[in-house]
Formats: sequence, structure tokens, C-alpha cells
Amino acid sequence: MQKRLFLTGTALAALTLVAPHAMAQSDTFKIGLILPMTGQQATTGRQIEAAAKLYMAQNGDMIAGKKVQLIVKDDTSIPDVTKRIAQELVVNEKVNVLAGMGITPSALATAAIATQSKTPLVVMAAATSSITEASPYVVRTSFTLPQASVALADWAPKNGIKKVVTLVSDYGPGIDAEKFFKERLAFNGGQVTESLRVPLRNPDFAPFLQKVRDLKPDALFVFVPSGAGAAVMKQFLERGMDKAGIKLIGTGDITDDDQLNDMGDGALGVVTSHHYSAAHPSAVNKKFVEAFKKANNNLRPNFMAVGGYDGMRVIYEAIKATKGQGGGDALLAAMKGQIFESPRGPMYIDAQTRDVVQNIYLRKVERKDGQLYNIEFDVIKDVKDPGKAR
Ligand code: PHB
Repeated sequence: MQKRLFLTGTALAALTLVAPHAMAQSDTFKIGLILPMTGQQATTGRQIEAAAKLYMAQNGDMIAGKKVQLIVKDDTSIPDVTKRIAQELVVNEKVNVLAGMGITPSALATAAIATQSKTPLVVMAAATSSITEASPYVVRTSFTLPQASVALADWAPKNGIKKVVTLVSDYGPGIDAEKFFKERLAFNGGQVTESLRVPLRNPDFAPFLQKVRDLKPDALFVFVPSGAGAAVMKQFLERGMDKAGIKLIGTGDITDDDQLNDMGDGALGVVTSHHYSAAHPSAVNKKFVEAFKKANNNLRPNFMAVGGYDGMRVIYEAIKATKGQGGGDALLAAMKGQIFESPRGPMYIDAQTRDVVQNIYLRKVERKDGQLYNIEFDVIKDVKDPGKAR
């Protein structure tokens, strides 16, 4: 009895000693934003970091009595590095939320850490369908490749495109794009005659494009991750594929707003399907694009930026809904079902799947005010990830 009392006393003393520190810490809400800031995917990191900072500048950093702190870490898009950083952020920094995830392998490598530590993981970029199934703590604000690809496979056969060759980066999102485009095109009476896959790292598109030229399909469907589109476009044009009567189509990753304006007139007329265009004609988007450019030396926001901006919104609203007192499970619950108008258009977080439901737009590259833009000409509303239905 004596001994137990003594122990309790010591424990109490220890608690009192750590209390000031613990209190200071609990006044802060930490977001661990892990992004590729260098390497092949660096533009994704730059866009998302800029968007997250813009969101904070516009909405303040005091939310429900908490000081929001953004901790940005560069994972160089190496999944082992993403995982190690996530672990450090959870254990040492005691972050309340993990976020970012520039590529699918990074998100998949981090999912188990989110689960074990019960930390919500807000995926702002990576877009393979299965990511939300890798952990019940994943919430996604980007898009999925099945979501974007199916719309284009509905559009193509109605527009004289029956025979298509697909060319995708050989990993999760590329394989999703290939599969869902191919199945839907076949359903609509078209045909994918050949499916080509290029490595994710340092791809050389030349031999693949030569093969496509020889196959002479009506169109070439391409998925490459954000940042790689300009290289495909350049080589497609250099090889005179367009003049040989082969149309270039793809998900909007290929006519990425981060690079589109530098692609030249050869990009005019390219049709893609995606969830975001900087030219989306809404008041919310005009305001977003203007503010983003102003804060970032005239840089145009791309779909990655929007994933980051909306991800911050989802986190902020969860802090508010839990009155700044929520642990991982409460925050997660407050993220599920959020519905709002994004710069991309209306969107919500499906409470069952934790994935984004949003409009998918068909767009064509056109010149507007002297610059190249993806101009939306059709919309499929409230598209759920078709990858979840199976
Ligand atoms: C991904 O790795 O999931 C990814 C990366 C860039 C994109 C799309 C998907 O543009």
C-alpha cells in the first residue's frame, strides 16, 4: 500500500513536470505534409506546397483554438523515404494528420503507418484506385484514374475513334487507366489493339511511339504522371504522328496545366478527360487561380494544386467540427461525407469509401487570351471511382 502510494506520487510528479510541454504541444495542430520536392515529381511537390500555403494564408492558422502548423518534408518520391519520414512525423513530431503523397507507391508505403497510429492520411495527389483500401485512415482529395479514363472511353467511339493503342506508365495509376479505358471502349464497340507500358523512372518514349506509328490506330491514349506529359507531346509531334492521322488522347495528366502553355501549338485540339482545368469557368476557380498566381510568381495551378488546396480544406473543416479536440478517429469521422464547392466544381468525400466523388470534364486544348488551356466542353456529373464497384 505504502509502495503503491509512493509510485502514484512519483507518477504524479512526473506528470506535473511534463505538463507544460504537453500543453504547449496540444495547442498546436500539426500537419505532416510529405511531398516530392526534388526529383522527377518535383512539380507536384511545388504545386501542392504552394496550394496548402495559399489555403492557410486565406483562412488563417488559428482554428478552433489551435495553431495549425504545416511541416513540409521532401520524400524525393522514393517510397521507403516517404515511409521513414511518416514514421518520424508520427513518433517524434506527433502530427495530428499526415498528408501529401505525390505518387502511388509513396501512399501505399505509408498506409500501414496511418492505420497503426490511427492518423488520418489525406492523399492529395496519388490516384490509383486501391489506395483508399490500403488503410481505413486514408481520405483522398485528388482523383482516380478509373474515374478519369472511363469518360474518355465513352466519348471516343462517338467521335470516330474506334481503334486505340494505349501507352501508360508501368505502375498503379497507369495500369488502372489502361484497364478501365480498354474495358469501357470495348463495351462501347471500340477496341484497344495494343497496350504499351513505359517505365516510370526516366522513360524513353521514342521506341514506343515508333511502334504506335507502325500500328496506325485512330488514336493513342496516354497516361503518364504529372510532369511527364510535355516529353510525350514533344516526341509525338516530332515523329509527325498527328500528321499521320493518329490522334492523341488521354487523361488530363498529359496536358497538365503546369506545362501546357509551353507545349506549343502542336498541343491544340488534344482531347482529354479530367477533374480540373485552370480554365474551369466558375467564380470560385477564377478567384483561386488569381490568388495562386499572385502568390507564386504567376505560376498556373494544376490539378495537383487543387488536390492540395481541397485537402487542406478537408483538414480545416475536421478541426472545426471536432472543436480542436479530436483524435485521429474523430478527425477521420469529420472528414467523411464533407461536401463543398472546390475550384474544380462540386465534390464530396464518400463516407463509405473515403474517396472523392466529383465531376469529370471532357476538354480540348485551345488558345485563350494568348495562352493554351484545357477548355471544358462536356461534363459527367458526380462520378464515383469505378474501381470501387468490383
Ligand atoms: C500516382 O502515382 O498515383 C500519380 C502520380 C501523378 C499523376 C497521377 C497519378 O498525375
